Amino acid sequence: MRLAYDILLFLHLVGWAIVLGGTIVTLREARLPKGALHGILTALVTGIAMVGLAQASDELRDPNNAKIAVKLVIALVVTGLIVYGTRRPEKVTRGLAGAILGLTVVNVAVAAIWR
Ligand code: HEM
Repeated sequence: MRLAYDILLFLHLVGWAIVLGGTIVTLREARLPKGALHGILTALVTGIAMVGLAQASDELRDPNNAKIAVKLVIALVVTGLIVYGTRRPEKVTRGLAGAILGLTVVNVAVAAIWR
């Protein structure tokens, strides 16, 4: 269980790193990075799976539900923005890309600082 959880955490971090790194690199252009959709979906699915594993297992610490709820809402907004921008690339502005970057950074802060 512990190993499965750690692999999910690894994939979780890789997922949002793709979104974060990609949006920083393309910030000056009004377009979304390639792979942003895969990255955020990876972060979302692995995050939800980790919560399920932690709740089902005795050896893993129960997740902080308030923190998870905040992260989930922010991640769903980011997912919505990326889906929109992927489907209608002509509508992508630097503001939209910046919002994706900013919200992802907020989620990293919530993950790291809120204990
Ligand atoms: C863009 C969206 C997200 C970002 C940037 C993000 C970022 C992070 C980071 C940096 C960590 C490592 C922190 C640590 O281990 O102390 C982490 C862990 C974790 N994340 Fe996320 N996350 C996102 C979305 C989600 C979602 C949607 C869920 C669940 C619904 C989730 C659930 C978790 C869980 C269970 C952990 C394990 C450690 C803990 O309890 O904090 N994450 N996330």
